[in-house]
Amino acid sequence: MAYKTLITEIRDDVELIRLNRPDALNALNSQLLCELADAVTKADRDPKVRVIVITGSEKAFAAGADIKEMSEKTYADMATENFFTNDSNAILAARKPIIAAVSGYALGGGCELAMMCDFIIASDTAKFGQPEINLGIIAGLGGTQRLTRFVGKSKAMEMHLTGRFMDATEAERSGLVSRVVPAKNLLEDVMATAAKIAEKSAISVASAKEAVNRSYETTLTEGVLFERRAFYALFATEDQKEGMAAFLEKRAPQFRDK
Ligand code: CAA
Repeated sequence: MAYKTLITEIRDDVELIRLNRPDALNALNSQLLCELADAVTKADRDPKVRVIVITGSEKAFAAGADIKEMSEKTYADMATENFFTNDSNAILAARKPIIAAVSGYALGGGCELAMMCDFIIASDTAKFGQPEINLGIIAGLGGTQRLTRFVGKSKAMEMHLTGRFMDATEAERSGLVSRVVPAKNLLEDVMATAAKIAEKSAISVASAKEAVNRSYETTLTEGVLFERRAFYALFATEDQKEGMAAFLEKRAPQFRDK
């Protein structure tokens, strides 16, 4: 599939997906989300890819769902199209880690897309917000649920009710992003982080992702039980033997995803 709204490339073991609708600050229209779902699904299946990075431009990661596309839609249109649901589910289904590299605006669906990734590294120019309230709607790609889990009820509620933006410093302080780096270093830093993950065993990386994500969906007791099962299961892999042998022999491990 040739993409019209994305630029994709594989650099080393990393699939770099750049949202590319510069005239609309990377607003998420149906075509972009459909292409993004396709690109993520293919990268997730591609043995040459170990980590996926989603980024935008310096000015905007994505300024939200496409308001022009949505403006004339009725309730019946949204409900019958099941607007955005299948494409966002495809992104959430990826087993490989996805890093959001956010510079500039990450608003509405853009903030929600970043939060669907496994973690966010932001540039010092990043601005996060859920300004849907200004349009007479609310977030529709998970923002009321995910932002609340990231930053807590009080701040999430304020952001959703006022539509105010959060800068990178506040986003880091609040736990929305894992790290803030200077804008000019963003991609280099994210690719270095992706490379570090790509060196690990893909089996333990997938297990770690699955177990951390499980903490969103279950009680502490059930989550710890889930983790324990996954932890025990990793002792059936050659990579566990290799990882521990390498530590004891004071050398770097050679993981083989087995
Ligand atoms: N949808 C469609 N087009 C958008 C857009 C969006 N979400 N955001 C920006 N654009 C377009 C603008 O219409 C403009 O296009 P034209 O040049 O053709 O007029 C172009 O991008 C540049 O935007 P601005 O001129 O507005 O740029 P700015 O620097 O003055 O302002 C901004 C930047 C503050 C991000 C402003 O564009 C803005 O407020 N955008 C809308 C943000 C928003 O409300 N997002 C939520 C959308 S709803 C949603 O996301 C629902 C959901 O949860 C799924």
